[in-house]
Amino acid sequence: MSYQTLLLDVKDNIAVVTLNRPDKLNALNAQTINDLDLVFDELKENENVYVIVLTGSGEKAFVAGADIKELNKLDTISAKEFAEKGQAVFSKIEKFDKPVIAAVNGFALGGGCELALACHIRLASDNAKFGQPEVNLGIIPGYGGTQRLARLINSGRAMEYILTADMISADEAYRIGLVNKVYPQSELLDKATEMAKKITGKGQQAIRLAMKAVKAVDEMSLKEGQNLEASLFALCCGTEDFKEGTSAFLEKRKPEFKNK
Ligand code: COA
Repeated sequence: MSYQTLLLDVKDNIAVVTLNRPDKLNALNAQTINDLDLVFDELKENENVYVIVLTGSGEKAFVAGADIKELNKLDTISAKEFAEKGQAVFSKIEKFDKPVIAAVNGFALGGGCELALACHIRLASDNAKFGQPEVNLGIIPGYGGTQRLARLINSGRAMEYILTADMISADEAYRIGLVNKVYPQSELLDKATEMAKKITGKGQQAIRLAMKAVKAVDEMSLKEGQNLEASLFALCCGTEDFKEGTSAFLEKRKPEFKNK
C-alpha cells in the first residue's frame, strides 16, 4: 500500500518508515496520523517484517510537531478527539509486538518528541533537538508527552522541559537517558539499520516475549512483572528456537532460528 505522507521500504525483514512532509519539517497533520495508523496495521500483518525503523525525510527534522495550521482551528470538543486519536495511534506503536526504533534525524518537537517517546528504542543524530514546546502555543502536550517523558527521564526533568519549552540537544538527551545513542547524521540510518539487523538475526519469538516482559514495567508491580516473566520464560522453553539456540551453543555453531 502507498501513503500520502509516509514512505515505506521493506528489505531483509526490516521496514523503514519515513515521515515525508519535508517542506513542513514532517509536521504531523491528520493525514499523517491516519497514515501512521494504517502503516502499522500493514506492518503487523506482514510476516516478513521483524523490526521497524521510523525516521523523517530531509536533514533537518524527524517531526517538528503537530501541524500548527490544523491546531489553530481546534476548539474544546474537536481538541479532545484530536488528542485521543493521536494518543491511540502512538499507543498502537508503543504496544506493537515488533521492535520500533526511532532514528531521530533532526527536530523532534511536540508530537515529534511524543512519537519518539512511543517507540521502543531511540537513536539520534548529533543535530537532533528534542522538546515539548507546546506552552509556547498556549497548550500542553496532548499525544502522551506529559506521561511518557515523565516516566522516561523522571518527573522533575519532564516538568522543567515542558514548563520552559527548552529544547534538548542530542548530547543532553543522551545524558538524561532520553536516547540510547547519538551518531553523526550521515551515519544515523545505517546505524539504526545495523541495530535492526542484529535483532532480526535472533529468534523472533524470544524477541517478542522479551518486549512483552519489559513493557509490563509500566503496568505491573515487581511481583506481577516477575510472575509474567516466569510465564514468558516458560513459553520460550517450549519453542523450537530454544532447542536450536541452546543446541547451537553446545555444538559450537551459529543458530538457525525458524521463529517457531
Ligand atoms: N506545523 C506546521 N508547520 C510547521 C511546523 C509545525 N509544527 N513546524 C515547521 N513548520 C513549517 C513552517 O511553517 C515552514 O513552512 P513555510 O515554509 O510554508 O513557512 C516550514 O515548516 C519550515 O519551518 P521554519 O520555521 O521556516 O524552519 P526554521 O528552521 O526556521 O525553524 C523550527 C525550525 C522547528 C524551530 C520551527 O519550524 C518551529 O518552531 N516549528 C514549530 C515547533 C513546535 O512548536 N512544535 C510543536 C507543535 S505542538
